[in-house]
Amino acid sequence: MGFFERLFGSFIKPKLDHDQQIISPNGRVSCYVKLKLGSLTYSVKKDGKIILRESGLGINVQGDQPLKQGLMIVRTQNKKLDETWTSLIGEQRIIRNNYTEATFYLAETAENGRMFTIRFRVFDDGVAFRYEIPPQPKFQRLIISDELTEFNIDSNSQAWRIPAYQPDRYEYNYEKRPVYALASSVHTPLTIETPLGHYVSIHEAALYNYGSMTLKLNSLGRLQSDITPLSDGMRAYVDLPFNTPWRVIMIADSPIELITNRIVLNLNDPPKEDFSWVKPLKFIGIWWAMFVGEWTWAPGERHGATTKHAIEYIDAAKRLGIEGLLIEGWNNGWEGDWLQNGATTDFLKPVSDLDLDKVAEYAKENGIKLIGHHETVGFIDNYEAQMEDAFKFYTERGINYIKPGYAGSMMTVQGRKEFHHSQAGVRHYQKAVELAAKYHICLDVHEPIKGTGIERTWPNLLTREGARGQEYEGGALSPSHATILPFTRLLAGGMDYTSGIFDVTNVAKRLASTLARQLAYYVTIYSGMQMAADRPRFYEEVQPAAYEFIRNVPINWERTVPLLGKIGEYYVVARQERESSNWYIGGVTNEEAHRVRLNLDFLDDDSTYTAEIYRDSDTAHYRDNQLGITIESRKISKTDYLDIWMAPGGGFAVRITKS
Ligand code: NOJ
Repeated sequence: MGFFERLFGSFIKPKLDHDQQIISPNGRVSCYVKLKLGSLTYSVKKDGKIILRESGLGINVQGDQPLKQGLMIVRTQNKKLDETWTSLIGEQRIIRNNYTEATFYLAETAENGRMFTIRFRVFDDGVAFRYEIPPQPKFQRLIISDELTEFNIDSNSQAWRIPAYQPDRYEYNYEKRPVYALASSVHTPLTIETPLGHYVSIHEAALYNYGSMTLKLNSLGRLQSDITPLSDGMRAYVDLPFNTPWRVIMIADSPIELITNRIVLNLNDPPKEDFSWVKPLKFIGIWWAMFVGEWTWAPGERHGATTKHAIEYIDAAKRLGIEGLLIEGWNNGWEGDWLQNGATTDFLKPVSDLDLDKVAEYAKENGIKLIGHHETVGFIDNYEAQMEDAFKFYTERGINYIKPGYAGSMMTVQGRKEFHHSQAGVRHYQKAVELAAKYHICLDVHEPIKGTGIERTWPNLLTREGARGQEYEGGALSPSHATILPFTRLLAGGMDYTSGIFDVTNVAKRLASTLARQLAYYVTIYSGMQMAADRPRFYEEVQPAAYEFIRNVPINWERTVPLLGKIGEYYVVARQERESSNWYIGGVTNEEAHRVRLNLDFLDDDSTYTAEIYRDSDTAHYRDNQLGITIESRKISKTDYLDIWMAPGGGFAVRITKS
């Protein structure tokens, strides 16, 4: 009996030519898979209209022929699934996972040919597939030197891109460009508007032990996967069996339809252990005072992380009804050139003016959860040598939240400079998440690897940064940024945008935002940990009425209902609090004023509700009247409309409770 017969049974007749339509449960999305002349391709349609033309598939293997040509199909397998699952934390409690699956088991026709599998899942709102490579008689390891996945979208489409392989990782402003003009590699999610008016976002799910996928135009002018290389140019070293991350093509008829696309989460596994100890958290921080120059990270006269300040902030958190406090700059490494010091940072030694034991004790007595900080500056060797001890150091003091940071343009891993989003980076981030889970620690990762839905499996990964956040205010953020994020970066999961800066007019770091807009972010930008990022006095003394919204807004949502949105112009979303009948609405606009008329028929029943509205005053403007805010209360019901005007660079937030 030959090798394939042994593996698949003697009834198998390999096919050299094959084509198959995989049709989504509602029949509207289809993926056409074709084997011709030894190569497998796929194409995608929605409602009979082309989304992706015939696109190539394959993998380049170091020291061997590409896994791409001379293929036959040894077996196919079809399946359907329709299930719902409950998320522990997130934008939506109940999530439906409904798809049609077809799996193609492939082998090279040559004698002793290699085998691999491509598994497709077709959803009503997109297509996903991945390569699965089993152990082979000849080899159990593989060096992947390239992945040849094409996404052959009309190159006249418009894409919102951020560049890859740049020093600030994912922290760039999005630019709208025709696909044919994407001169260099770009990050995913890459959101694209096609000439036929579809909205497509190309991304990946379940990124483990592999380089992160960026996209670039290939020699045929088609978008193709460009897996972030390691320093030796290889994309990944893997032991078999190995599954690549899922390649995901989200498809929508309108931008706001993208917001509730749950394919990425659905392609991740449920948690394998109990994570009921994970709790979302709202927090303040010894933080923004450093950005505006009031305090410093480094010890000295104006040092932020002192025992005195920490105790004052714990008291303030208590008064503000905020459960968490982040303290940055409490260990060594901040003096002088902190970006270089990361090689020797000691994560176990508080500086002399911070008595961490005393602060931790005081926090515990007052019911405040401390968030520890590890700025690794990407020196992974130094960090990993201490990581377990550093996690223990915190948990021994009752600290179960950590904000790790990976500033710096490259990581140092085993003495080599590696991209944050290379296989080396991905492996480190994963190691940290798993070790944190072991110690019951929740993470808010800054300078992270991008989100690919792994928080479904690892809910302790409560949030991450991974895009330009408010620390770039003071010149480098324009109001349009927050109207692009929901349709791009946020499709990859929650983001710590460090919202709630009330001192918007501070000349040291003036925001391109009105005050009301700062409240909107708590609804428009989902995050499993939400920061109230300004100094407490701005909440307690300067704007106490506006602060009430932050006090009340929840973090964990029952349901998310996107209401209006145009990428780069405006975005309005409603969310229902978990285990509650309360609803919240947030809206943001770009540099232009925008008036919206909101239909409230998402409200559950015919009750009368009270809407507390925090909106821009009629003369507000992000340039010269940032603080103009109107706070008013109104009785509403589901048959009413809410008319709200957003100032240039403005926004609004509404809290709706049953009267
Ligand atoms: C960049 C992070 O985004 C910011 O939150 C942090 O304070 C600094 N790095 C210092 O670690």
